[in-house]
Amino acid sequence: MTRPSVDSTSVHAAAHGEPSTSPVEQAKRAAASRALEEVGSGMILGLGTGSTIRHFLDVLGEAIAAGRLDGIRGVATSRDTETRAGALGIPLIALEEAESLDLAVDGTDEFTPELDLIKGLGGALLREKMVVQAARRFIVIADAGKAVHRLGARAPLPVEVVSFAWRSHLPYFRSLGASPELRRGEDGEPFLTDNGNPIVDLHFESTIPDPAAVEARLRDRAGVVETGFFLGLADAVVVAQVSGDRAGEVTFIPAAGRPA
Ligand code: 5RP
Repeated sequence: MTRPSVDSTSVHAAAHGEPSTSPVEQAKRAAASRALEEVGSGMILGLGTGSTIRHFLDVLGEAIAAGRLDGIRGVATSRDTETRAGALGIPLIALEEAESLDLAVDGTDEFTPELDLIKGLGGALLREKMVVQAARRFIVIADAGKAVHRLGARAPLPVEVVSFAWRSHLPYFRSLGASPELRRGEDGEPFLTDNGNPIVDLHFESTIPDPAAVEARLRDRAGVVETGFFLGLADAVVVAQVSGDRAGEVTFIPAAGRPA
């Protein structure tokens, strides 16, 4: 799949296909390792999707193989994560098998100082949000390039829609101030999520002034399955610096008013 473009070139362009020793990949690994400290034996874990989560799967798989964690069960948010977790020996269950999860860990495309997120450039937004909402705690892992002051600064807003009449949403999306673009795969065909739905990426001219209002308007629209807004859902963001004097430094940022 061709991921939609983001405004920042230096960080996100490195998300796929670069050596694992690049500063961005090192930062992702550092954030993933810190998040692993929040995992205890016996937990049911929500496992997100994307290049940052691959590092979390790696360190989780290592901890299980070394006997440092046991009784872990993971719920994968995508086929990609399912395949990778399986190969690393991480036991998996379906979300149908668990009423609730202890902890969800996932990456993000943007996070604000309030810990609001845009997710879904990897196309797994619906399952990711379902897993997050079923979890008692949600920890986001990110390199510092994902930090924004306001949502929409670097990433479009992914909106998953049912295939039926998808084009009829475009004027509605424009009325919200967005330039909508159907996401396409590397083969040029419409990208379909693991649920078989297309995604329309909403590009805003600058940032999104009132994400909650846009979210409410999108939810009003029949045929919209899910949006990439994750507002008020994160309990903490673990962020690792990529460059400068603080490169590699990891900060655990709890959401205001919630325990670290
Ligand atoms: C997938 C997601 C990912 O968490 C998000 O796109 C971040 O991915 P990456 O870690 O590769 O930058 O929301 O739907």
